[in-house]
Amino acid sequence: MKIAFLAMTLLSALTAGAAELTAGYLRCEYRSAPEGIGERSPRLSWELTAQEGGAACVQRAYRILVASSEEALARDEGDLWDSGKVVSDATGGIVYAGRPLRSQQVCHWKVQVWDGGGEPSPWSAPARWSMGLLEFRDREPVRWITRRIRTAPDTAGLVLPPARYFRTAFTVGKPVRRAVAYASAKGIYELRLNGQQAGCDYFTPGWTDYRKRIYYNTYDVTGLLRPGENAAGAVVADGWYAGYVGFGILERLERSREFYGIDPALFCRIEIEYADGTTQSVMTGPGWKSSEGPVRQADLLMGEVYDARLEQPGWDAPGFDDSAWEAAELSVNPDGALEAALTDPVREAERIVPVSVVQRGPGVWIFDMGRNFAGTVLLKVRGGAGRTLMLRYGEMLNADGSLMTENLRHARATDFYTMRDGEQEWSPRMTYHGFRYVELTGLESAPGAETLTGIVLTSPTPRAGTFECGSELVNRLWRNITTTQQANFFEIPTDCPQRDERLGWTGDIQIYARSATYNADVASFLSKWLIDLDDAQRSYGAYPSYAPYPYAIPMEYAPAWMDAGVIVPWTLWQVYGDTRAVRRAYPGMKRFMDFLEQGAQGDLQPAVPTFGDWLAVGRTASDDFIASAYYAYDAALMAEMAGAVGERQDSLRYAALAARIREAFVRRYIAPDGLIPGNDCQTAYALALCFGLYPEPLAQAGADRLAAMIEANGGRFSTGFLGTKHVMMALSRYGHDDVAYGLLLQTEYPGWGYSILNGATSIWERWDSYTREYGFGGRDGGNNARMNSFSHYAFGSVAEWMFRYALGIDTEGPGYRHILLRPRPDARIGWMKGSYRSVSGEIVSEWEVGRRTTRYRFVVPPNTRATLSLPGQESRMLGPGEYEFEFKNRKQ
Ligand code: BGC
Repeated sequence: MKIAFLAMTLLSALTAGAAELTAGYLRCEYRSAPEGIGERSPRLSWELTAQEGGAACVQRAYRILVASSEEALARDEGDLWDSGKVVSDATGGIVYAGRPLRSQQVCHWKVQVWDGGGEPSPWSAPARWSMGLLEFRDREPVRWITRRIRTAPDTAGLVLPPARYFRTAFTVGKPVRRAVAYASAKGIYELRLNGQQAGCDYFTPGWTDYRKRIYYNTYDVTGLLRPGENAAGAVVADGWYAGYVGFGILERLERSREFYGIDPALFCRIEIEYADGTTQSVMTGPGWKSSEGPVRQADLLMGEVYDARLEQPGWDAPGFDDSAWEAAELSVNPDGALEAALTDPVREAERIVPVSVVQRGPGVWIFDMGRNFAGTVLLKVRGGAGRTLMLRYGEMLNADGSLMTENLRHARATDFYTMRDGEQEWSPRMTYHGFRYVELTGLESAPGAETLTGIVLTSPTPRAGTFECGSELVNRLWRNITTTQQANFFEIPTDCPQRDERLGWTGDIQIYARSATYNADVASFLSKWLIDLDDAQRSYGAYPSYAPYPYAIPMEYAPAWMDAGVIVPWTLWQVYGDTRAVRRAYPGMKRFMDFLEQGAQGDLQPAVPTFGDWLAVGRTASDDFIASAYYAYDAALMAEMAGAVGERQDSLRYAALAARIREAFVRRYIAPDGLIPGNDCQTAYALALCFGLYPEPLAQAGADRLAAMIEANGGRFSTGFLGTKHVMMALSRYGHDDVAYGLLLQTEYPGWGYSILNGATSIWERWDSYTREYGFGGRDGGNNARMNSFSHYAFGSVAEWMFRYALGIDTEGPGYRHILLRPRPDARIGWMKGSYRSVSGEIVSEWEVGRRTTRYRFVVPPNTRATLSLPGQESRMLGPGEYEFEFKNRKQ
């Protein structure tokens, strides 16, 4: 049934009355209360809330106070910065413009806003940030320490060195006002003070191109110090620096580990400020000792080996006898600059209890964690010194109930734990796995559910969207998307968390970036990754197929993958109004455009056979078509971005280039009747329509052809990574919502529903990664079971359509200041409810199709406006407030 609306009733519009605007959720550089900001002019933002909507519900002006102490701030003294009353409606991207900030400075701040009626708000609750170490050169030299270990290959040919342990002792002689630790590693480290971990992070300092930059993390450790003797310690493992990364073994590349160096090393500096104003620094260098410990192997892909009998209790606490430890060796400084971390490191998100434990054989048990995720486990066992337990991880089970590990390829993904006596708990901290099942071998007696707990790890990206609707299938799809994003927004946007890959594939993230933003606040996460991408740009201008790019040999560039270099900055600008990310990426983007222009033939791109419409099912677009379509899209986005950062000449030039490419494109590919004869397939129509390549009068004919092709294909896709989301978007843009919903709800192959009916708890790399009928080989038996990830977000890019069209929450121009509300109700689904916490506040959209009427509810946040466009209705403007509408349905 199609819905049309006969009459409309506005049930309520809570738009009257005083606004009572207040500012909250104060953030610096997109982070709440961040420690160790390296940016000298950080950007501040806040979120507005209002008691009621209406005309007063806009921010007419703001005033920011930044003070060097809480007390000064409480007295309303902005000794660092008093912005004064600034007439502006901006609530984000406000660049700090006060007194120059010094290293380690703590900044306390608050904000006051004036509403449209000129009424001032009370001051917001105070917030803070602290600056990192800004001038390394002015201070004592940065010293890194290491311990040289040479490890022979094991019987499988793997080289898996033990973790290094470092420690030092120091005396705190006076009352401490504040102590801050700055730490980094060539490798990954866990910093410990007086027996406790500083912070709760994993895999710090994360992955960058260490040849170009290496981050340090900042921890306020005031509470961890004690009077008298103190101890600092760190465990350091290979991580991405020296450990196995990617598919080196598989592809027999020049190397599969030690991409950036051989000996992992530690940098640490603890700055203590005493109450009497004096200071003390504790730094890596002479005076630090090193040893080995219980972590016998620690590798991100291969797993961790831990021998609890080798624990040295108290090694990271005062009073420990370290006479058997050796002096740590000095390590050369890394080539890359030591810079403040830009984003929060990987942390624990939640713990999960197994849903079942099944015995597989003598001493072998398989735990089912109930869903696919990335992370680790907590093992709790008793007794049995010297007994070794083996933990193998897998995403699926084979038909006979055994663990399926073929798709892990060369990732050993196995942990070993050798027990000591008594009650013991252990959780690997220097590796992670993508899994649902854990096979535990070696227990003497039957385990309980409490023996193993799942620990979900992810980069912290605050939840931004909620989604719920009348179809259980679609709700499951949304959960699978969020789970898969959580598993892969893991230090960098990885393609998958389980096999010997886990790389920042550019094609995957360019297709998924906008979806990611609806699910979570990824501003800081993706801004950091854009620097990885910039660092990995090839000398001749192409962006690589993944970033960071550790290999020395260059890989050929790939259309639709390399274009992430333009699409991701543009997405951050659209979603977060972020022009600084655009500025930062701009020189690289220009070099990339030059590279494309130089390679163009008659304003179009030649075929570069690489990944095409990766994993397409059936006929898809040709390589030259894809490359040229993305070329046109890039040029158009560049014109917009150049304009946004004040590069007028460039903006005009790119607009002209985009127009030329479009003309050439139409001439070459689009027939006068709107068909695309040489590329008559779903992906071709979808890309041409979504990238604005169609002359407008022909676009409808193209969209109709697309819809007809899908119908003729049994309402199913014939697309891959590139085509899928664009098909959905193109259909809805040109009036074929019903066909788009058909695809969404399709339970036959290929489609999301098909994977779900086959048991998916995450988004799979292929629609038929597993089927009850055909197993792991794919429906035609032609699938590569090894290239078969069960946690791959690319096909989750439908989330973008679910928000922009189904719920209808979109932005017109950057930053959701002008919101588009254009929900597309569908009677098959019945109802849908969702919200999105944009940079401009929380937007709500709900609809319910009843027997006679369709009802809607919207919330438009303060200081924004929305264009409401409902099917069959004139569009109208809404101001801030909450609205409900009801329309009569008309059967067609
Ligand atoms: C990855 C992808 C990636 C692709 C390139 C795969 O191995 O897992 O998601 O985009 O290679 O074709």
